[in-house]
Amino acid sequence: MEYLEIEGGNPLCGQVCIQGSKNAALPILSAVILHHGTTVLRNCPKIIDVIYMLEILKDFGCCVSWEGAALVIDASRLCDSQVAECYGRQMRSSIMLLGSLLGRMKQASVSYPGGCVIGERPIDIHLAALEKLGAVFTETPAGLKAVCEKPAGTMLRLPFPSVGATENVILLAVLAEGTTILENAAKEPEIGELCRFLNSMGAGIEGMGTSKLVIAGVKELHDTDFTIMSDRIVAGTYMLMTAAAGGDVLLKEAPLEQLESVQKVLWQMGVRQEVQEEGLRIQSMGRPKCVQEVCTRPYPGFPTDLQSPLLAALALAEGTSVIRETIFEARFKIVEDLCRMGANIHVDGQHAVIQGVKQLKGAELTAHELRGGAALVIAAAAAKGTSRVYQYHYIARGYENIIRDLQSLGVVV
Ligand code: UD1
Repeated sequence: MEYLEIEGGNPLCGQVCIQGSKNAALPILSAVILHHGTTVLRNCPKIIDVIYMLEILKDFGCCVSWEGAALVIDASRLCDSQVAECYGRQMRSSIMLLGSLLGRMKQASVSYPGGCVIGERPIDIHLAALEKLGAVFTETPAGLKAVCEKPAGTMLRLPFPSVGATENVILLAVLAEGTTILENAAKEPEIGELCRFLNSMGAGIEGMGTSKLVIAGVKELHDTDFTIMSDRIVAGTYMLMTAAAGGDVLLKEAPLEQLESVQKVLWQMGVRQEVQEEGLRIQSMGRPKCVQEVCTRPYPGFPTDLQSPLLAALALAEGTSVIRETIFEARFKIVEDLCRMGANIHVDGQHAVIQGVKQLKGAELTAHELRGGAALVIAAAAAKGTSRVYQYHYIARGYENIIRDLQSLGVVV
């Protein structure tokens, strides 16, 4: 059984270089198949979800190779448009292949997506949006079959700014005939990155960073060499780890302009943050302060992916804090484990009320999903004594090498 064993309770000290962004890399890898040629990607994180996605691309007929740190993908010849069930079920992002498969192959088959266990995660918004662009779906026992003979630009408005649905619309609209205007689009930085990537291949997308995207369809795309931005959620994880355990760390390449909502909460927690030439320096001494109420929201609000890491840090705060989760309904799963470490947390529907305690003690913990797993690592690094975090594979879905990073911060792991 794979697990991380962590000796906690000492302040962090050291520096880490923030890896490439998972949530940018996955849609970009999906987009690669829109082009009948070669794409070079730099700073692509070597995480489990990326490895799965590359296996799916190989099944489609892509040639994939790592040349040093660069990932080279030749998608000139594609022979399949079916996502193998073994990958599709494990990874939510496989649903993101719908838009690009339809754009390139005019047909697609995917199983119902899996991914982190953080709620129901329906795909109704994806399907309704793609239908507006001309896709037709049929349900099969294994999943979904889709065809889209002639993707056509249109005007549409999402009922909720779903990140994945926004990405799927972009992926199908890029090579569609005519212009697509997408309103109430998600504004997450990873969507801007997908658009910049596609524009670097000759796509015509405007409105990045706003809720209205205008996508002028083009006939074809061309080769590109693109560097993926750093991961704001990984940076946020180490910011909150420092808040919980105390210490003085430098997060090199942290994407500062995307971390405003997280920085605001850290200021309230009394954590010092200093922008330096190389990145963001975080200093924290003693217990963090409590916060009044942090509510997860679509970007630029506080990210739901950092809700569990924040919960772990606030478990040690002076006073009572409240977190409200508004994006995913089942995202307080780690509370039971935290309480076994000595935390005092009560969950009532969307709210978690956290009465901070002076100390957490090491325990046997189990990750059930990616960010919850990272939050348990935070708690373990801050707790007195030894902890084990089981089901490490969930954490490896999004953190390239958390063992190396923890060691760089002086944690005994
Ligand atoms: C993406 C991120 C994930 C992040 C989330 C919210 C990737 C690979 N994953 O997930 O890390 O936590 O954004 O920032 O980028 N919904 C529906 N119907 C749909 C689609 C979504 O009801 O068709 C609901 C979901 O169940 C959820 C909410 O909308 O409650 C947000 O989902 P969405 O923004 O689509 O998140 P993902 O793209 O799945």
